Amino acid sequence: MSELNNITLKILENGKGILAADESTGTMTKRLDGVNVPSTPENRLLFRETLFSSSSMTECIGGVILYDETIKQKSSKKNKIPELISEMGSAPGIKVDTGAKVLAGSPDEKITEGLDGLRERLKEYYKLGAKFTKWRGVYNITKSFPSKLSITSNAHALARYAALVQESNMVPIIEPEVLMDGNHTAEECYKKTSEVIERCFEELILHKVDLKGIILKPNMILAGNKSKSKISNEEVAKLTLKCLKSSVPSEVPGVAFLSGGQSELEATENLNLINKYNDTNFIMSYSYGRALQQSALKFWSKDIQDIKGTQKIFNHRAKMNSLAAQGKWSKDLEI
Ligand code: 13P
Repeated sequence: MSELNNITLKILENGKGILAADESTGTMTKRLDGVNVPSTPENRLLFRETLFSSSSMTECIGGVILYDETIKQKSSKKNKIPELISEMGSAPGIKVDTGAKVLAGSPDEKITEGLDGLRERLKEYYKLGAKFTKWRGVYNITKSFPSKLSITSNAHALARYAALVQESNMVPIIEPEVLMDGNHTAEECYKKTSEVIERCFEELILHKVDLKGIILKPNMILAGNKSKSKISNEEVAKLTLKCLKSSVPSEVPGVAFLSGGQSELEATENLNLINKYNDTNFIMSYSYGRALQQSALKFWSKDIQDIKGTQKIFNHRAKMNSLAAQGKWSKDLEI
């Protein structure tokens, strides 16, 4: 088994998943503004350190995606943050893209940047303890989007990123996120997501990326958030499985879904059903940002020194998702 495949399995096996705590300072500021906590480096660290030192880290969180600011910070006990995460039995990871920018040639769409100087940055992150990385491509659904141009250029960037990451002995998370914004149907989401993922794998193969040493981080197949034709959770699970079965090569060891604006409960319930119906060899787990942190953040904002109380909320959410990643969750386990 390759070293990269080993890392992937360690992160995702046995009901473990990923905590996506890699919000850029801009996004984190929006989240903190939302709960009336000043967005200072100290507060951003305090909230994140509270999560990273929770007991559920050992059993439920196989990896944590960090932002550049956090990977270089030290905990209140003067531990480096990647060391704290490793001591809890989890793997530190790092977001390495530099954000989605206007796509020249199709200015209403985005292309993710960050390839310039990436090889050097990866060396630095590896030394800081990172075992895996993340790059997110983002796609809108409308009548004419995502365009061929956006699908092609984002797949190309994701593949060049992944090849460089594996060269640096880390596991790349490949995140092509088809957004849920809009009034499209789930069928349209299915079609566009399949096209996006298939194109990504064409490029990954062309760039000689070892598919056993990656994690795919896709969206689930959902109707748009403004759509009148919502589908049931069972249908979400079945369409998501159908899409991944036909567009993801069988060598890929694991899939870790993003939550993408679903509520905490929806994200858990859908993941649970995906695992109940999972007839593939892919591990189906989570790499949630909002769906793991929302309640904990809300609770914490009332008293930012209540570490134990905040950890209790986070531990519960992590445990629920870990059960869902094994198809063992049920609603009556929620508090
Ligand atoms: P959400 O689960 O909040 O969508 O965040 C996951 C993520 O890492 C987006 O890039």
